[in-house]
Amino acid sequence: MRVDGKVAVITGAGGDLGRGMALCLAGAGARVLVNDRLSARAEETVGLVRKQGGEALAHEADVTRTDEVRGMMARAVAEWGTVDILVNNAGDFRDALIQNMTDEDWDFVVDVSLKGSFICSRAVVPLMMERRYGKIVNISSLAYKGNIGQANYTSAKAGVVGLTLALGLELARHGVNVNCVAPGLIETPKTVTRLRADARERLVRLTPMRRMGEIADIAQAVLFLSSDVSKYITRQVLHVSGGMEGF
Ligand SMILES: NC(=O)c1ccc[n+]([C@@H]2O[C@H](COP(=O)([O-])OP(=O)(O)OC[C@H]3O[C@@H](n4cnc5c(N)ncnc54)[C@H](O)[C@@H]3O)[C@@H](O)[C@H]2O)c1
Repeated sequence: MRVDGKVAVITGAGGDLGRGMALCLAGAGARVLVNDRLSARAEETVGLVRKQGGEALAHEADVTRTDEVRGMMARAVAEWGTVDILVNNAGDFRDALIQNMTDEDWDFVVDVSLKGSFICSRAVVPLMMERRYGKIVNISSLAYKGNIGQANYTSAKAGVVGLTLALGLELARHGVNVNCVAPGLIETPKTVTRLRADARERLVRLTPMRRMGEIADIAQAVLFLSSDVSKYITRQVLHVSGGMEGF
């Protein structure tokens, strides 16, 4: 699976999974614009990509802001001529039971994952349609099927699946593939610190493979859907979850 010379924009790539994706796509030959709303994190990812001999640029932008996203895509075009691959990975959560969930908790979570994916996709689609080439990979979560305390996150991630289905249909005839990766329980520094040991054990028991996934498992799935190996695949949700089908 190679993406030599392709230009990839990965949102939230200062985070654990996005960093893995940036390293993986750059390792497969892509030039990667590493986005994050926290520039220090983006810079750190870029440093790691360059250390392994890859090409990357850091770009601070908030994916919920149309003006900032337009600036980010314009930067990719100015530096490298176009955008071939967009990975809508930026996401966050603010868990609460519904009776305690504030309007801000709802808006914050839905805005980053769902509205951000919409805004970034809208910004790159004209470039992709013009060249009749493009790959959009949206990062959902197995939580799109429902999880207690995550009404906002589940709704956002189910929305990301819906966005994939709608955009995939709209763009198929224009040479643009739109797919989605739904990670299950992935071992990242954040999951390990956030989940209590007993909760982690329970989730591992619910996973047919009886273990957590690795960051590389998600990165490889994103590479597959970003490469031409998967050129006849569009509008699909790939569960990367060790066989787990829901929480
Ligand atoms: N880690 C898991 O086990 C897991 C499981 C399922 C789904 N996911 C999804 O994978 C994606 C990445 O998760 P992660 O574990 O790497 O999280 P993370 O918190 O490590 O990384 C997310 C990054 O996104 C950035 N970000 C947040 N809001 C942003 C915004 N408005 N604009 C730009 N950047 C923004 C953050 O600064 C952070 O660096 C998320 O969409 C998450 O919902 C993760």
